[in-house]
Amino acid sequence: MDRAQPKLNILFIDDEQHILSSLKRLFMDEPYDVYTASSGADALELMKKLQFAVIVSDQRMPVMSGSEFLEKAKIMQPESLRMVLTGYADINTAMNAINIGGASRYLTKPWNDNEIIMIIRDAAEKYNLLVENKRLTELTIKQNEELRKWSTELEFYVQQHTIDLSKRNKELDELNKKMQQTLGQIIVSFTTLMELRDKSMHSHASNVALMSSDIAGKIGLNDDAIKKISIAGQLHDIGKIGIPDLIMIKNPEQYTIDEMHEYKKHPIRGQAALDAIDFFREPALLIRHHHEHINGSGFPDMLKGDQIPLGSRIICIADAMDRLVNSHEISMSVEDALAKIKNELTIKYDANLYAYLAESACERLKASALPKDNIELELKPKDLVPGMTVSKDIRTGTGLLLIKKYTVLNNQNIETLRRSYHIDPASTGVFVWAKRK
Ligand SMILES: [Fe+2]
Ligand SMILES: [Fe+2]
Repeated sequence: MDRAQPKLNILFIDDEQHILSSLKRLFMDEPYDVYTASSGADALELMKKLQFAVIVSDQRMPVMSGSEFLEKAKIMQPESLRMVLTGYADINTAMNAINIGGASRYLTKPWNDNEIIMIIRDAAEKYNLLVENKRLTELTIKQNEELRKWSTELEFYVQQHTIDLSKRNKELDELNKKMQQTLGQIIVSFTTLMELRDKSMHSHASNVALMSSDIAGKIGLNDDAIKKISIAGQLHDIGKIGIPDLIMIKNPEQYTIDEMHEYKKHPIRGQAALDAIDFFREPALLIRHHHEHINGSGFPDMLKGDQIPLGSRIICIADAMDRLVNSHEISMSVEDALAKIKNELTIKYDANLYAYLAESACERLKASALPKDNIELELKPKDLVPGMTVSKDIRTGTGLLLIKKYTVLNNQNIETLRRSYHIDPASTGVFVWAKRK
């Protein structure tokens, strides 16, 4: 380390002045500040004012011997290097000074000049190392303490930040759920408006969306895929909006060639209407292919088998099922509809989906069976309570579907119903199942 260091202080103690003088002379050219004292008491006084690197004391002195002085010096300045200066005859007392006074060694009188200079230099260097070592140890302790403090502060900051983030995430999650819910409600409202044009197919879009997402769930598709299939199911016939009313009121089996040509445009129109919106791009593709047949005889692109997106194959089979069971003209039983679809598996539908369709249809039938201890009641909106199950589709006075049959009422949909009955009142009350008392 290249740090500018102050000169070290060296202290010699002897009751004989000529010895002190010669020692002072000897160290005149050395890089130390040399101090002398003629007694232990004087030396201790000096030590109150100055820090000494090396202290060399004569052993044999009146009043306070060298070892007595060094013992006191050790207490005052424990880091200094202490030595005792003695004649040959005093070896035993010198050993005492080493043991009691913590002297690092003893020097003999008379001394060899070069030897004593070398010893003092050596001791001064050792003192420097000791002081530096002490400084570094203290610095390490201080830095460790600071590190510990920083680490605690950092830990606290990270904890606080994590709490803030998870709170923010929760808020975002809730906002996202609300937006998804609103989007779902907008889509349903929109398709309900569309279905007003085709009175024979009330609730068709919602039925197809429900059955399609049910089948997708049974297959084991992930939530994102199920959601896209549900949206596509809800909007699959949105392209029919461009079909003239005269065609809409007919059954597709009665179409002329030109009318069929017009009708076959609706999947492409549906895709084109939604493709501009990023969120709808994937559902829009499923809509384009919802009339493709497994053997390639469908439209608009005459795709075959696996070429048809899975979501489109699901919507196609659910669409057929709902038309067979729920359209006013056909109105088949669930069993007959399933039998008809089974017959057309290699022509129109994906045979792998049939079992899931049948399972879903049977579950719906079971769910619709009215438990024996329930009775159907017609209630005013103000008398509805959460937990009641709707027994007939609820529509506004002008025919918009508000809530589907089998929906369990909660505070939110009861509130919507009450508002709607105020704006566009239906001619009847709300039909619900309630437990027989
Ligand atoms: Fe369609
Ligand atoms: Fe349809």
